[in-house]
This record gives sequence, structure tokens and C-alpha cells, in this order.
Amino acid sequence: MNKKFYITTPIYYPSANFHIGHCYTTIIADAIARFKRLQGFDVFFQTGTDEHGEKIEKKAKESGVTPKEYVDKIIENAKDLWASLGISYDYFIRTTDEKHEKAVQKIFKKLYEQGDIYKGEYKGLYCVPCESFWTESQAVDGKCPDCGREVKMVSEEAYFFKLSKYQDRLVKFYDENPDFILPLSRKNEMLNNFIKPGLEDLCVSRTSFKWGIPVDFDPNHVVYVWIDALSNYITSLGYPNEDAELFKKYWPADLHLVGKEIVRFHTIIWPCMLMALNLPLPHQVFGHGWLKINDGKISKSLGNYKDPREYIDAYGVDAVRYYALREVPFGSDGNFSEEALISRTNTDLANTLGNLVSRTISMSHKYFDGIVLNPKVEEEIDNNLIASVTNLKKIVEEKMSELKVNEAIDEIMEVLRKCNKYIDDTTPWALAKDETMKDRLATILYNLLESIRICAILLSSFIPSTSNAILTNLNTSRVSYDTITTFGNLELNIKLNPAQVLFKRIEVSN
Ligand code: MSP
Repeated sequence: MNKKFYITTPIYYPSANFHIGHCYTTIIADAIARFKRLQGFDVFFQTGTDEHGEKIEKKAKESGVTPKEYVDKIIENAKDLWASLGISYDYFIRTTDEKHEKAVQKIFKKLYEQGDIYKGEYKGLYCVPCESFWTESQAVDGKCPDCGREVKMVSEEAYFFKLSKYQDRLVKFYDENPDFILPLSRKNEMLNNFIKPGLEDLCVSRTSFKWGIPVDFDPNHVVYVWIDALSNYITSLGYPNEDAELFKKYWPADLHLVGKEIVRFHTIIWPCMLMALNLPLPHQVFGHGWLKINDGKISKSLGNYKDPREYIDAYGVDAVRYYALREVPFGSDGNFSEEALISRTNTDLANTLGNLVSRTISMSHKYFDGIVLNPKVEEEIDNNLIASVTNLKKIVEEKMSELKVNEAIDEIMEVLRKCNKYIDDTTPWALAKDETMKDRLATILYNLLESIRICAILLSSFIPSTSNAILTNLNTSRVSYDTITTFGNLELNIKLNPAQVLFKRIEVSN
């Protein structure tokens, strides 16, 4: 049986205003999920929406609809965006799903009955837009440290989760599982900023708003964000039924991919909740950086961004995916700009990849009627190219296993650049003038076509439509992962389809 791989994105707050930064987590998760599938893993890739809370309640009120009507309409926006980006999720969870709500109630009750949740009084600073509580020392000049907006002092009866009880076990878990939090800098941040000063018990219910999952044994309270949101990763699999097939098969998660600002929730609160539930902990939480614009936050109020679908319409889905995956070293912050997107598309996709494919296929048509031949008239110069192409699978696998997605892609690009250089060095157009060099010419074209096939298969996780277009262009049936372990599996005597333009160079008018 294939090894399983359970990967999740965070569940998104429903929004009509998603920007390219929101797409970042999901595009990367999609590339990782697709790569694992390519490698033969049995993948479960989950995303979804986080639909409760005071903010949504307010927005619905302003729009004159019920919160449920509001979210029902707006989550279509997320689904539509993910479809236009080619996101291959296996499951889309909504926290308003009945199955999730019932499961959360059971989890809450179980934790209460076993003494991990108790009733107390909450007093503290609260940021409504971020739905976050802050202590006085965390607030910056009386403002939310995340978004800089005013926080308000609130005091209400609330249930608390005994986070403090799990502190020692959590530190022990970190020690025993050095790869649990990546990049490493984020682990140090958790230890130094949150764990060492001492974990405080966590407020897990609210009475000041209604739009949440009711605590069934105390219906004045709704379950407050963390127990509701984080448990999505197990309720989707059928928990609390531990015998549910999906749960047995996929839990614990292999990778929670999250933005850096929610690493704390996923590496402190979530593991402690799971310990309290006596469940195994996820293997890894990766906290990626933010895409910024002009080094600042991408923000609706600043009006500094376009709907990502505008970029997709203008440049194609794979240009947008490629940019998100290739531009920024995974883990760090990076800048997004339309100019950089255009420049990346032109250099890597139009010049390096697109040109290589179209000129190789055009030459094959011109000199051999599009028929693939390999008379094996080899020369020294071929060895270098063939060795690079043959090694590529292993190198890309290594990079992907460390989640160095941008480096994995660059390795493929490097090989494509070598292919272009091989054309320049072997000058097929000159050989074509000499009848005695026909077999050498055919061999060169075979080497190129086979290199393109192998690269196209490796690119399928990152730019799936383009990969598909290339493989269709080659008219090959050798498209599976196991056909790229050795060089030379492209079939002989097949007829290539006519060359096509994969990416037009984008001209920028001033
Ligand atoms: N609902 C919570 C997550 C709960 S998970 C149990 C949430 N939602 S969110 O919609 O605000 O964010 C979803 C994801 O988008 C997060 O991983 C977040 O980091 C990511 N991004 C939002 N803006 C971003 C950038 N500008 N750049 C990169 N990713 C960012 O948080």
C-alpha cells in the first residue's frame, strides 16, 4: 500500500477580497500535494473556511443578512479562486458544516468533563478585526500588535483551556521532534517569546456574541475560535469517531502549512489540545513568510492590490503559480510586484522553457516531419546534458523533501538552460545542411525531446497546465513518474504535434 500524506492549509476567513498573499499558502500546499501524488503517496489535501466569529456577525448585520447567509454567499469566492488557480484539494471543510459543529461540541464537552476546560472570568484586551486577545504587555501603545488597530478591554465569564498544564510535555515534544516546527527560527521564537515566559490558560468561549458553535451544556457560551478552528483538521476525517476510516488512515497530519502569524496557534495551542485529547501530534508545521507589496502589508484599506484573477486573466494561471512558487525562498518574506511577475514569466517561462520547447519541436518537424528517431550517433557533449537530466529527479526530490520549493524549481530551470545551451553548441541548423550529419541531428533532437519530457513531468506539480500542454505536444504516453528514472524512455517513431507557443513574451508598454 502507498504511504499516506496528509497536508493542510489553514482554513481561510471568508472574504470577498482575497489577494495574492492569500493565494500563496494554497499554491504552495497544492504544489507539495501534487508532488507527493506524483511520487506515489496517497495524499489527502485539505483546505476550507473559518466561518464563525464576531467579525462575520458584524459584517452580516451590516449587509442585512444572517451570518449563515453571509458566509454561504461569500465562500463561493474562495472556491472560485482556488478553481482558477488549479488547486487540487481533496476536501473543503467549512466550520459551519453540521458534522464539524457537532464534533466541536463533543470535543469541548470531553475536555470539560476531564477537567482540561474550566469556567472562569476573562479580562483582557481584545482586537475585533483579528479576533485576538492580548495582554497589556503584548499590546503596543494600547493597539493590536498584529494590525495596529485599537483594542478594547473586555471582561466576561468564559471557559478556559488548561494550556499551562501541557507546557513541559510540549517542550519535551519539541526536543524529541526537531523538525516539528520549520523553519528553525520560528521554533526559537515560540520557545523564547511564548513558552519560556510561561503558558497562560486560554480563553475558549465567549458570551458577547452569538455567531459561533454553542457550548451545548451551557448555551450562553459559544466556542471561541481556537477549539473551533484548529479542530477542523480532525473533524474532517471523522473525529471524534476514532474508528472513522479517514481518521484512521490519515491522522496524524504530515504537514500543516501556515503563514508565520499563525504558527503560535499551530505549534502551541494545537499540540496541547491534541495531548489533552490523547491523540498523536502532527509531524510538521511549516510557517512560511508573507508576500508583501513595497515591503509593506498587502491591505484592503491601502487598496494596494488587484484581485488575483486579474493576473490570471492577463498572464495565465501558470505564470501566477510559478511566480508564487519560484520568486521567494520558501520561509522568508518576499515582495510581490506585477513587474516582477512579468519579468519572471518572460525570462523563465517564455524564454527558457517556452522557446526551448517550441524550437525543438519546430526543428523536429522541419528536419524529420515531426517523427521521433534516435540513431544514437552520440558525442562527448551529450554526456553532460544526459547526466544532468538523469540526476534531476533525485535532486528535485531532495529539495522537495526539505520543502525548498523555489530551489527545486530552479534546478529544473537550470537543466532547461543547459538544453538551450546544448542547442547553441551543437547548432542543429548547420548540421541540417549536411546530409551525412542527419543521424547526428536526429540524435541531438532526441536528447532534447527526452530532456523536455523529463522536465515537463517534474514541472507538473508546479505548472500543471503547461506541463500537460508540453506532454500533449510531444504526443507521448510516457508520462508517469517511473518513466523518468532513466534517460531514453521517450517512444521512437511517434509523431509530435505541431509546435505551439506556451508563453507569449509579455511586452510592457510605458
Ligand atoms: N482563519 C485563520 C486560520 C485558522 S487555521 C486553524 C486565518 N485565516 S486568514 O484568511 O487570515 O489567512 C489564511 C492564510 O493566508 C494564512 O496562512 C495567512 O498567513 C495567509 N496569508 C494572508 N496574507 C498573506 C500574505 N500577504 N502573504 C502570505 N500569506 C498570507 O489566519
